Amino acid sequence: MPRAEMPAELEKIYGRLGFADTISGRNQADRFLMGLLRAFADAVLLGAGTLRATPGHHWTPDHIYPDMASAFAELRMTLGRKPRPRLVLLTASGNVEVSHAAVIGGATVVTTASGAARLRQRLPDSCDVIEIGESGLLDLSRAVEELRGRGYEAILTEGGPHVMGELLARRLLDEAFVTISPVVAGRSDESRLGMVAGVEFLPGREVWSKLLSVRRHGDFLFLRYDLRSSASP
Ligand SMILES: NC(=O)c1ccc[n+]([C@@H]2O[C@H](COP(=O)([O-])OP(=O)(O)OC[C@H]3O[C@@H](n4cnc5c(N)ncnc54)[C@H](OP(=O)(O)O)[C@@H]3O)[C@@H](O)[C@H]2O)c1
Repeated sequence: MPRAEMPAELEKIYGRLGFADTISGRNQADRFLMGLLRAFADAVLLGAGTLRATPGHHWTPDHIYPDMASAFAELRMTLGRKPRPRLVLLTASGNVEVSHAAVIGGATVVTTASGAARLRQRLPDSCDVIEIGESGLLDLSRAVEELRGRGYEAILTEGGPHVMGELLARRLLDEAFVTISPVVAGRSDESRLGMVAGVEFLPGREVWSKLLSVRRHGDFLFLRYDLRSSASP
């Protein structure tokens, strides 16, 4: 259905999803891979923008691919991981939806002193707060250090675009898993966020990667990149 003809309610849902589900077509292999990556993670790191845009979601392996819930649980046990990856939320403003199901389930909020002041009385007991800096955008290198200090070794990020941009700019990402979906998106006048926002890399600040593996499932491609050395080819 062309966007112009969409009922307002559907349009709102499309807006919230950032078209992610539309682009992937809810492809089962893609969802399985997301589940597998979450199953390996000690923590899943997100920007508050992604949380705000995704009501009702849980960043757990079983939520994205329920059919493999018991296999994911067994894998976590074998790896010595806790039953669920810890949700980690980044916010400068402290504008976190405290009634979001994933927040109620337990999250670590990384924020500034002013964000923490806004949140403290509102967060459920299942949550804790890491405070870095006074206000404004906090230093993500310090955030990663703090998380490592709390035992979160394998940290998966699912973005969104602003967090992805900052992590890439600070060279904090080791690897990227990219799915190529065989659908053409396109843009009209409306701007829409891509994989990276808020930072420009080309020309001048190139981030090259090394292709580690390619897998195919039907018409979808699953690519794994190493980002640790950014030397141009
Ligand atoms: N696979 C996909 O297609 C995919 C994946 C993820 C997200 N998305 C989409 O992306 C859109 C959201 O984009 P976004 O760029 O706004 O999301 P985002 O990167 O998740 O969130 C941005 C927010 O994170 C917080 N933040 C980022 N860097 C920070 C720092 N250094 N210090 C403190 N806080 C920091 C700020 O929160 P405060 O404003 O609270 O200060 C900022 O506004 C949604 O439509 C979502 O559905 C799509």
